[in-house]
Amino acid sequence: MVYNFNAGPGILPPSVLEQASKAVLDFNDSGLSLLEVGHREAPFVAVMEEARALVKSIMKLEAKREVLFLQGGATMQFMQVPMNLLGENKVAAYTDTGTWSSKAIKEAAVFGHVDIVASEKENGYTAMPLSVQCSETSSYLHITTNETIAGTQWQTIPYQTKIPLVADMSSDVFSRQLDFNRFDLIYAGAQKNTGAAGVTMVVINPDVLGKVERKIPSILDYRLHIKEGSMLNTPPVFAVYVVLLNLRWLQQEGGIDAMEQRNQQKSDLLYRTLESIPLFKLPVAKHSRSKMNVVFTMNDVNLETLFAKFCKEAGIVGIKGHRSVGGFRASLYNALPLSHVEVLVNVIRDFAQKHG
Ligand SMILES: Cc1ncc(COP(=O)(O)O)c(C=O)c1O
Repeated sequence: MVYNFNAGPGILPPSVLEQASKAVLDFNDSGLSLLEVGHREAPFVAVMEEARALVKSIMKLEAKREVLFLQGGATMQFMQVPMNLLGENKVAAYTDTGTWSSKAIKEAAVFGHVDIVASEKENGYTAMPLSVQCSETSSYLHITTNETIAGTQWQTIPYQTKIPLVADMSSDVFSRQLDFNRFDLIYAGAQKNTGAAGVTMVVINPDVLGKVERKIPSILDYRLHIKEGSMLNTPPVFAVYVVLLNLRWLQQEGGIDAMEQRNQQKSDLLYRTLESIPLFKLPVAKHSRSKMNVVFTMNDVNLETLFAKFCKEAGIVGIKGHRSVGGFRASLYNALPLSHVEVLVNVIRDFAQKHG
């Protein structure tokens, strides 16, 4: 048995993997592989439409919100967002909360001015800001709701009343209930809670578009993707299908409410266990701990190799910390059952008994 704590691409439900692999051989009993069907043919158009409709119903989005499935990863959104939303002489507010927001800031600066309205850099990115003050003249505020590498997560979203709110939700979308209609643009690479790598979900309030003067290449213009129903060019058909299967699974399991409850249980169990054993350290401030990516280190770094080996022998994979942070990181995405966290917790306790 393998217990998958990978940070992304991460764990998917077994039923999704089974259905996805079947569709590669025979899609909907058509005798054709999903990979051989034209994207403008009715069977794939139905996949795209159901996936977009499911996002809208699961997130309880207003009718006017648009759902797109684009390529280029969340990394492309780092530039596509400012290209579409930030005029050359305008200012966008960004929060600097870790590796991912820093990358978003760097790209935004290519298109306009960036006002860093809160930064956790000095604290080694071990917490999320407690408050944010933005100028009303900023074109938008950008946040990263969950910093996958640092293991921090905004617990209270700094909803804005005067300026649009943009969020990178790559690593915690669908994991907890938020007021999604209060975000004007949400983007998320699919390879964590949404589906397979190769597609990025974007949810847009169309009112924020069309306000910059620059010329936007067609493939990067959200308005054209909206007009073409996310079929401006050939979409990544397999990745979109995996998203659809995963969304169907999510809905059957009870939607975001059920996920949130499970994620709370899983993260509580793991944090409580780590807190109770002096061998381990939790670098992230309690008020900012991520329920998706639990980052921990050891007081004696010499024990880390031993602990890694111990986990490997127990079938636990993907818990090595990111190279920039060190230590360990256990990712608890939606598809990870509580029982797998219980296995990890038992391994941690056994290790502590032997080496504590
Ligand atoms: C929060 C966050 N933003 C952006 C990215 C980059 O995503 P992609 O590799 O899809 O470009 C990641 C990847 O892990 C991420 O965790």
